[in-house]
Amino acid sequence: MAEQMAQKLWGGRFTTGTDPLMWEFNQCLSYDKALYAVDVAGSKAYALALSRTTPPILTTHELSEIHRGLDQVQSEWESGTFEIKQDDEDIHTANERRLSEIIGKDVGGKLHTGRSRNDQVATDMRLWLAQEVQRDIEWIQGVVGILAVKAEEWIDHLAAGFTHLQRAQPIRFSHFLLAHAHSFASDLDRFRDLLPRISVLPLGSGALAGNPFCVDRELLRNELGFQTIGGNSMQSVADRDFVAEYLFVCSLLMVHISRFAEDIIIYSSSEFNWLVCGDAYSTGSSIMPQKKNPDACELLRGKSGRTVGQLAGFLTTLKGLPATYNKDLQESQEPMFDAAVTVGKSLRILQGVVSTLKIFPENMKKSLTPDMLATDLAEYLVRRGIPFRETHHISGSCIRLSEQRGVPLSALSLEDFKSVSPHFGDDVHEVFNFETSVERRDAKGGTSRRAVLEQVEALKSKLVQSAK
Ligand code: ARG
Repeated sequence: MAEQMAQKLWGGRFTTGTDPLMWEFNQCLSYDKALYAVDVAGSKAYALALSRTTPPILTTHELSEIHRGLDQVQSEWESGTFEIKQDDEDIHTANERRLSEIIGKDVGGKLHTGRSRNDQVATDMRLWLAQEVQRDIEWIQGVVGILAVKAEEWIDHLAAGFTHLQRAQPIRFSHFLLAHAHSFASDLDRFRDLLPRISVLPLGSGALAGNPFCVDRELLRNELGFQTIGGNSMQSVADRDFVAEYLFVCSLLMVHISRFAEDIIIYSSSEFNWLVCGDAYSTGSSIMPQKKNPDACELLRGKSGRTVGQLAGFLTTLKGLPATYNKDLQESQEPMFDAAVTVGKSLRILQGVVSTLKIFPENMKKSLTPDMLATDLAEYLVRRGIPFRETHHISGSCIRLSEQRGVPLSALSLEDFKSVSPHFGDDVHEVFNFETSVERRDAKGGTSRRAVLEQVEALKSKLVQSAK
């Protein structure tokens, strides 16, 4: 057993073996193998830095041997031929073990000089996450883009807008779509804002106290494409704020996705029947043949809980950790990977849902009732110089009268209106036009055709800007 332990990366001082359950509990290769490529990239850059120290830790020949070996390690992972050994605890130990097998221990054993898995894992995670965030950004752009396209295509259709889930005022259906698009556009900003804080180089921090061979960290930064260099080695090895922030922006994005999904589920119910999700994103019932369920949207709504849970869980892990590296920090990896998978799949499914939505404008129209123009009635009197508080009251009295008569508000006669207020003119019935109501809301950000198309253009140009 003692012999076996000596094989382990850190086994030198140990005399007894590890409990197998402890081994399983401690290992993370089962998930951190996702970092294989960035781990190789980090090691190649670090080897280069070791060849440039004074005096050099690596000769030119040793450097090229290490690079050759690491390239082979990478291609073995890529081709699925990398053989995981029993003692491979994590991606760093696995890659280093394999490197030494390929190029020999005498040279392979030099790579980790002055480096620790503490600065290594933090570097790998940041490199990996920067790439992932870039992908997330593209998917969010896709969602905003398709919502803008649909909003333009469906610009003619009016529907009821809701507050408290009660019919409130007429809107363009496109305005509703763009409301969600604006939330996703703010997610776009948040994901982009994250990048400079992810792109801070930890490598060259050692275990906690800094690098004893004075590796050129500027060279490392440049080689690995980081924007800045971590300013304090103790903080650099233990900082996982970038994971917490990522989990937060993912959570908020998932909350936005969930709320959109909820609206789609409501509008696709037979009670509304405003729209239907494409067959590719719906499923049937095993017992009720007539059913077509919006499962994609329900899963989108459901998955948000998972990401919010990862955020809450990880913040709890961080809270109370003493300074620098503690093994608890390994628990930053799975939430990060899990959130990335959830967000990536959700965004792609969401794009599919939106691009295959079928709408039924006639049913949207049916949701429009004259009482939804009570505010317009009050505004009609405002245009005749009456203070809004008074007109609000007058309009309320008209509603009461229509309810007493059991007729729609628009069916009251001119005399009826005049009996409530002498300020009503012969043209009062012109208020009862949904199109006019919507078109009046022409201030920036409103639901008039012009104001909605302006939003479409603004979102499109935001996408062009953010693609740059
Ligand atoms: N797998 C470890 C992690 O993710 C790597 C760092 C191990 N460091 C240590 N001091 N044991 O955190």
